Amino acid sequence: MASRVLRIGLIPGDGIGREVIPAGRRILEALPASLGLKFEFADLDAGFDTFKATGAALPPRTVSVLRGECDGALFGAVSSPTSPVKGYSSPIVALRKQLDLYANIRPVKSVRSRNPSSSAASAATANPVDMVIVRENTEDLYVKEERTVDRPDVEGGRYAEAIKRISERASSRIATMAGEIALQRQKIRESAAPSSPASIHSRPLVTITHKSNVLSQTDGLFRATAHAALADPRFAGVAVEDQIVDSMVYKLFRQPQDYDVIVAPNLYGDILSDGAAALVGSLGLVPSANVGTGGKDGGDKVFAIGEPCHGSAPDIAGRGIANPIATLRSVALMLSFLGEADAAARIDAAVDANLAEGELLSPDLGGKATTEEVVQDILRRL
Ligand code: NAI
Ligand code: MG
Repeated sequence: MASRVLRIGLIPGDGIGREVIPAGRRILEALPASLGLKFEFADLDAGFDTFKATGAALPPRTVSVLRGECDGALFGAVSSPTSPVKGYSSPIVALRKQLDLYANIRPVKSVRSRNPSSSAASAATANPVDMVIVRENTEDLYVKEERTVDRPDVEGGRYAEAIKRISERASSRIATMAGEIALQRQKIRESAAPSSPASIHSRPLVTITHKSNVLSQTDGLFRATAHAALADPRFAGVAVEDQIVDSMVYKLFRQPQDYDVIVAPNLYGDILSDGAAALVGSLGLVPSANVGTGGKDGGDKVFAIGEPCHGSAPDIAGRGIANPIATLRSVALMLSFLGEADAAARIDAAVDANLAEGELLSPDLGGKATTEEVVQDILRRL
């Protein structure tokens, strides 16, 4: 059988990014040959350590190799100091913009585990979760047009301000992506084997999240544009509602089972997804994919960067105990956006089997296993 070669950029970044991205590479290499996939890898730099060593957080080579030579990529995490460091700015935010990766897709699903002492299992019993957060990835407050103004002449003096930019184009395409994901999830539910566990959702639903009661222009435009995009006849079967972000957080924690697909501007999407991660037991479980054109002109080819939702976790970095599952699931997500659903399903099944048995879990899930032991167990199940 002719095989498809996928060239994948590997950007470990900082902290536990360096411990989990190698696991992502290993699972790609371990996929069965019968899937007809071959992988080539490009090792690429980005992050705070790269900045300290070279003066650039996102070296131009990283962007040009991704754009010119790669089909997809895996990104670990980068450390960003909370107080400003001159010349430094988060490379992942820049990368999303430069490669026009306009959607950040974050599925959050509770784990079915037979090990009742795992934090994931207890979270699942209390509140079953099966949702996808679709976060706009290129604008909102993350355009990072901030400034500090010194006004010794006025009372209060110094202040800082930031631009929150929301465009019709970005709002429309992210809402369209949310509608497509809702339809696709419904299709998967309808085609599921009768023996598989029943889904908690019976119909596709998109919840538009905003704060248009206060930010009537920016979030107002997001809300109205998202509604207009989802009014397209092809989404006729998708129920659409909208929800103000603060009450959204309340409901998300009280009744997470009500949510199917959530679409949100950049900042709310970022916050909601870390919150949702808590509902399933650990940030170490939650994957994401940055999806878009890859900044390549013409054609409708999709470029995807798989990226765990967590950060560089300096509190556990270097100890070999980071949970690799968020990364392995991000690999699967990347593959599914690159049109390789079967390969993605294999990885997801191996991860689910590890969690279901619940014997080899990393400490964030209440276990004692190292990153290496979890990876080995999942590779064995693949
Ligand atoms: P974090 O996500 O790195 O860690 C939050 C907590 O979750 C920590 O207790 C950590 O140990 C735990 N955790 C995260 N991932 C885990 C894993 N795979 N296995 C086990 N435990 C895990 O967030 P934090 O501490 O706020 O940020 C640390 C650094 O990461 C900061 O410099 C921040 O700017 C950066 N960051 C980078 C992101 C990115 O590159 N996309 C995203 C979020 C934060
Ligand atoms: Mg985040």
